[in-house]
Amino acid sequence: MARLNWGMIGGGEGSQIGPAHRLGAGLDGEFVLAAGALDHNPEAGRAYAQSLGVAADRAYGDWREMLAGEAARDDRVDLVTVATPNATHFEITKSFLEGGFHVLCEKPMTMTVEEGEEIVKITRATGRICAVNYGYTGYSLVRHMRAMVARGDLGAVRVVVAEFSHGHHADAAQADNPRIRWRYDPGQMGASAQFADCGIHALHMASFVTGQEVETLSADFVSTIPSRELEDDAMVNFRMTGGAVGRLWTSAVAVGRMHGLTLQVFGEKGGLRWAQEHPSQLYWTATNGRVQVIERGEADLSPEADRATRVTIGHAEGMPLAFANIYSDLAEAIRAAKDGRDMDPAANLYPRSEDGLRSMAAVHQAVASAKSGGAWVNAVPPFLR
Ligand SMILES: NC(=O)c1ccc[n+]([C@@H]2O[C@H](COP(=O)([O-])OP(=O)(O)OC[C@H]3O[C@@H](n4cnc5c(N)ncnc54)[C@H](O)[C@@H]3O)[C@@H](O)[C@H]2O)c1
Repeated sequence: MARLNWGMIGGGEGSQIGPAHRLGAGLDGEFVLAAGALDHNPEAGRAYAQSLGVAADRAYGDWREMLAGEAARDDRVDLVTVATPNATHFEITKSFLEGGFHVLCEKPMTMTVEEGEEIVKITRATGRICAVNYGYTGYSLVRHMRAMVARGDLGAVRVVVAEFSHGHHADAAQADNPRIRWRYDPGQMGASAQFADCGIHALHMASFVTGQEVETLSADFVSTIPSRELEDDAMVNFRMTGGAVGRLWTSAVAVGRMHGLTLQVFGEKGGLRWAQEHPSQLYWTATNGRVQVIERGEADLSPEADRATRVTIGHAEGMPLAFANIYSDLAEAIRAAKDGRDMDPAANLYPRSEDGLRSMAAVHQAVASAKSGGAWVNAVPPFLR
């Protein structure tokens, strides 16, 4: 089967997230990095793309040059990943969708709800794929949790508890370090810092696993280091469309926590507990039963979990392999569209532009709620009500 041509914008040398995308996209041999505008510095971007094997005429200096260059080719890229800083996502994603390309955009998809609406409208009008990289939903056991909830193992979901906490910004003496300070500056970060950057992954995962959307929320934001304008810790209570009650805590000052993305789901018939730092174990307890450990890769898991597991049971899988599952879903979606057939339902799990829009609405509504002392607000974007 011919490999799909893949292009990347951002993710240049030394970037945080670029390598995880390249590992993920390359894992199954579905995509080949064929084009890129990888860096804000055109020369550095061209040179780095070529060092990764991109042909000189497709190692572009900036994304507009790439859009024009790829649009003119017969073998144009099948998918473009946008992994630049947040404020550029909207313009680049919109331009490539309008140019007829499929896009995987890093989160946040946009900075405002209005921009998010526009991306959803363009996606629907063009019929292009616009995925958003809530990449942690690619973990095999996260997909298994979703399958367990969907097939009724838990009965009605009563309570969801989501966390995403780390302690990397806890040192007040470092608060003015420019590499940290910009993250709490509304001019660069937008309306929210910790909730928009990390909490939103946990909120999206709560929806992904339960199959319920966030309907209303009440937020408490705090800047524990007073010089910070934006929050470094937040608690958000929410209610979901299927009646589940949600609790979410996110923090950047949780000393000792590294990448504490966890999800617990409690239903009538049992409870689930999963943590990103130990992604190969899922804890399941039936009501009145004993705690059981479900291991990634063991027999008789769901088709969604089986499809998303790559290495043998007992060996570590991590974040780039979770990203690989998003890429694998997208490869299947692109091939199904080319062939005019339905896609494998076990692959039809990648986060959509609608998820990006819902997240943006949740961020802005959480900011509004926090400013009004925790008032309950509608979290559903007007366009999707
Ligand atoms: N999904 C996740 O788990 C996850 C994790 C980390 C970061 N992210 C997201 O990924 C994005 C990038 O974050 P990062 O931490 O890698 O940032 P970074 O600052 O480490 O890297 C950004 C890269 O983009 C390049 N760049 C900047 N402007 C550009 C432009 N106009 N054209 C082309 N290249 C440009 C830079 O030169 C650099 O190589 C952010 O939106 C962030 O929110 C997502």
